[in-house]
Amino acid sequence: MASPSRSVFPFIFMLFLVGCSSRSLYPLPNRRHNGNRQPLQTFRPYNIAHRGSNGEIPEETTAAYKRAIEEGTDFIETDILASKDGVLISFHDVCLDDTTDIAEHEEFINRKRTYEVQGSNVTGYFVVDFTLKELKSLRVKQRYPFRDQQYNGKFSIITFEEFISIALDADRIVGIYPEMKNPVFINQRVKWPGGKKFEDKFVEILKKYRYRGSYMSKEWLKQPAFIQSFAPTSLLYISNQTDLPKILLIDDVNMPTQDTNQSYWEITSDKYLDFIKEYIVGIGPWKDTLVTASDNYLRKPTDLVARAHARNLQVHPYTFRNENKFLHFNFSQDPYKEFDYWINKIGVDGLFTDFTGSLHQFQEWTSPLSTGEEDANKLLDKIVFMISKFKTK
Ligand SMILES: *[C@@H]1O[C@H](CO)[C@@H](O)[C@H](O)[C@H]1NC(C)=O
Ligand SMILES: *[C@@H]1O[C@H](CO)[C@@H](O)[C@H](O)[C@H]1NC(C)=O
Ligand SMILES: *[C@@H]1O[C@H](CO)[C@@H](O)[C@H](O)[C@H]1NC(C)=O
Ligand SMILES: *[C@@H]1O[C@H](CO)[C@@H](O)[C@H](O)[C@H]1NC(C)=O
Repeated sequence: MASPSRSVFPFIFMLFLVGCSSRSLYPLPNRRHNGNRQPLQTFRPYNIAHRGSNGEIPEETTAAYKRAIEEGTDFIETDILASKDGVLISFHDVCLDDTTDIAEHEEFINRKRTYEVQGSNVTGYFVVDFTLKELKSLRVKQRYPFRDQQYNGKFSIITFEEFISIALDADRIVGIYPEMKNPVFINQRVKWPGGKKFEDKFVEILKKYRYRGSYMSKEWLKQPAFIQSFAPTSLLYISNQTDLPKILLIDDVNMPTQDTNQSYWEITSDKYLDFIKEYIVGIGPWKDTLVTASDNYLRKPTDLVARAHARNLQVHPYTFRNENKFLHFNFSQDPYKEFDYWINKIGVDGLFTDFTGSLHQFQEWTSPLSTGEEDANKLLDKIVFMISKFKTK
């Protein structure tokens, strides 16, 4: 039997630790010492959490982003717009109507407007007509009626800076993937002191939080970020302000670019790709334009992925959604089959998905994180443990 003095020792030792150390002695899995957080995986296509895990939780909310991080995303994705008082926010639509409870706010009933957005007249409650304080009084709701409604009314709109802090606070390295959304419209409606443009404010915030460095540089791997936009002039405009990697989003074949009014065919031509490749590291096309469908069956893939890869441009198509209504019949209503097709047959470099957890599980199943990396992390844990033991003495 243990002597009394020996049996109380662990207890006293525990008290000693609680008293001396505000930091946990044993590094929890994934919660490693500052600077030694689990790195971004870069050996398989990126899991990009489209507006967070919005298949489960209302889009672009803190809860949706945290869920995506729990589920294993590489990047959290967001759309940046601006409030009336010039604060950049994470929100997708220029109008508040479809994803907030604005309709229940009588105090704002006279704010409805009609503005021209990308060539058509749109009527609704516009984000740009509300101050940040007013926007914060609203609550976000699920966009689609066939998704879980239980979180409606629980979460508020977040700012770009709040979005960034979610990534920086994560217990492993999680990248950000912000979009300069509707820059033409935002610059028409919102003005900043000193003649600054929306794009300037966007880069300012990234710099404030020390996001910098070209793709795969040491700085970039510490705080990875891709900047995305459907507006090529916005990407060109910021090219002299930041060397962070940029992705040109490509809309449906019928949609001209919002700034330069170029057709889909123009911006996907060899000539244009040769020009734009100096400014971007990849393209983000709608997946149904890469492989078109008819009667919900896929047809032959286009050559755009091959032409992009020939120019060393990555391809990150959008948007992968689990629900039956979004799956082509070829995939037997099985989202894993769809991932398999796009990753292993088409060979894309990243996937925007509403269901981060599903994509992560598929990738862990077919292409797991290398054990070598895990061993290295275990060794780091050991070292951290030894150092922390030394410190408490
Ligand atoms: C939008 O409405 C305004 C005012 O009624 C009109 O002058 C303009 O032509 C409309 N624009 C489009 C694209 O329909
Ligand atoms: C960036 O700066 C260089 C040198 O000042 C200039 O030649 C170039 O046109 C600029 N590019 C853009 C897109 O503004
Ligand atoms: C955009 O281009 C289309 C096709 O070339 C043309 O018909 C249309 O007038 C243009 N729109 C603007 C706003 O320049
Ligand atoms: C999808 O199904 C259609 C119809 O059977 C077939 O023509 C097409 O080749 C299939 N595509 C793929 C990628 O399996």
